[in-house]
Amino acid sequence: MFFLLELLLLGAISIILIYYIFLLPPKHPANIPAVPFWVALIPFFKDVDQSDIFRKYIQQPLREYGAVKLFFGAQWNILVHRPSYLAEIFKDEDLYQKSGNQKKIPHSVLAEFLGDNIISSYGDTWRKYQAVVKPGLQRNFDADWIAKNAEVLCRLLRETQARAGGNGIAVQELLQRYSVANCSEVVLQVNLGALESPNAPIHVLQSAVKREIFKPIFMNFPFLDRLPFPSRTRARQLVAQFKRELKRALLESKHEHDTDGLGARMLHANATGTWNDKQLSDNLTVAFVAGQENPQLCMISTLYLLGQHPEVQEALYREIQSRGIDMAQPSLEALQDMPLLTAVIYESLRLFPPIGQLVNRRASEDALLGGEIFIPKGMYLGYNCYSTNRDPDIWGPNADRFDPSRWGLSTTAIQKQYRARRARAEFITFHGGRRSCLGERFALLQLRITLVTLVQQFTWRLDPTWVDRKTPAGPLYPRALRLVFSNRVKFSGSASGEKNPEMLRHE
Ligand code: HEM
Repeated sequence: MFFLLELLLLGAISIILIYYIFLLPPKHPANIPAVPFWVALIPFFKDVDQSDIFRKYIQQPLREYGAVKLFFGAQWNILVHRPSYLAEIFKDEDLYQKSGNQKKIPHSVLAEFLGDNIISSYGDTWRKYQAVVKPGLQRNFDADWIAKNAEVLCRLLRETQARAGGNGIAVQELLQRYSVANCSEVVLQVNLGALESPNAPIHVLQSAVKREIFKPIFMNFPFLDRLPFPSRTRARQLVAQFKRELKRALLESKHEHDTDGLGARMLHANATGTWNDKQLSDNLTVAFVAGQENPQLCMISTLYLLGQHPEVQEALYREIQSRGIDMAQPSLEALQDMPLLTAVIYESLRLFPPIGQLVNRRASEDALLGGEIFIPKGMYLGYNCYSTNRDPDIWGPNADRFDPSRWGLSTTAIQKQYRARRARAEFITFHGGRRSCLGERFALLQLRITLVTLVQQFTWRLDPTWVDRKTPAGPLYPRALRLVFSNRVKFSGSASGEKNPEMLRHE
């Protein structure tokens, strides 16, 4: 009996200690609220849609105060929403220093996967990575190659749809293979065979690694990665296998014809001793992950939004037809001068930023954000693009609505607004300042080519049996999206715009 009482007392003391050490919100900053710590635990107990969690528990305080204290990754962080605060963070890179997983949670599987890389590093280390990567990403890419891959994607979609009859088909797997092909072949000049075969080792390994990494319990409590759970041992093995396979493919690729490409530049940096083997492997992994995962998620979200809006698909089709775009030889000028296409892509990137939330900066000194929020030295800060990009104070009362026309009607007007919104940190999908995305140009080119090719060949709608839910944790996008594709019937539009269904199927 006495022993039982002792045990209960010990249990109670442990719970109190855990609460005070880990779960009690920090005193500072004092003038912003804290989202209750248990909100981070909801995905363990319930199969949730994270956009519901955001709306229910985070949106109101975050928007009212411009920032909140948020428990994530087993620690308290500051999550920032207000554009003026964000602009300040983007600008002062020395005060709000990049500090990625390799510093925050060095023992974690995630840190082992991405290592020390261009996205999460700071200072001289970052400069050393950037000098190699930037020229490899800010060049003209081979649009014909992407268009060729887009053609294969259409064939695969058509075959999959034919097998499914009138039922919906899952699109993520095919889009992953497609974006892997574009990133590896066009950016890194490595052929991984992912588009041709669902069994390509890199695709199989990548899917397995993703399943392990985005498990909510390990994302929220990365210290659990230290414990010898069989699942963590397996995750580490998968990560090692993935990195070996990617590096092997890079080393075996022939780069003689394109010494300015990113793959060749990385190998050269390694051969000349500028980067050691680990730096090569970590930067290669991050270029591959950022370079194909983000466009992939954006494609899923764009197909989802267009599936909900057949009228926008039709308007896009008319725009493409009016420009006489020939995807056998895509003209970059013509692709860029399509206002609706551009506005659809920006609107999709606004509503579903592939990196919805990211916490990877740390105050190097005590700081006063916006002259009002005291941030103690060492505290982590992050952004919630999903929230800022949908702020009704900035985007109006219909901020949650898919409305490409909000960007403007001409290419000039759209680009002007895009630049202004980015400069004011009101649209932060690619973040901002010196550390904003280096792959934006490639991502946008790929999105343009993909959409034009798909819209020319298909119409699609949401599978009526698919339940519209977003992912429970990690990147926020439509979960396991299923669409029904139909081969486009070419209409020979009359002068009055009336449609004359002339059955010219693209087969
Ligand atoms: C729609 C597609 C994409 C989105 C939304 C996106 C978003 C972002 C964001 C938000 C950052 C800043 C991360 C941070 O603050 O820590 C970033 C950085 C970066 N992205 Fe992207 N990205 C996309 C595509 C790509 C592609 C295709 C590549 C390469 C092929 C790429 C390469 C990079 C690199 C190298 C950086 C680090 C820049 C630096 O710190 O100097 N991204 N990206």
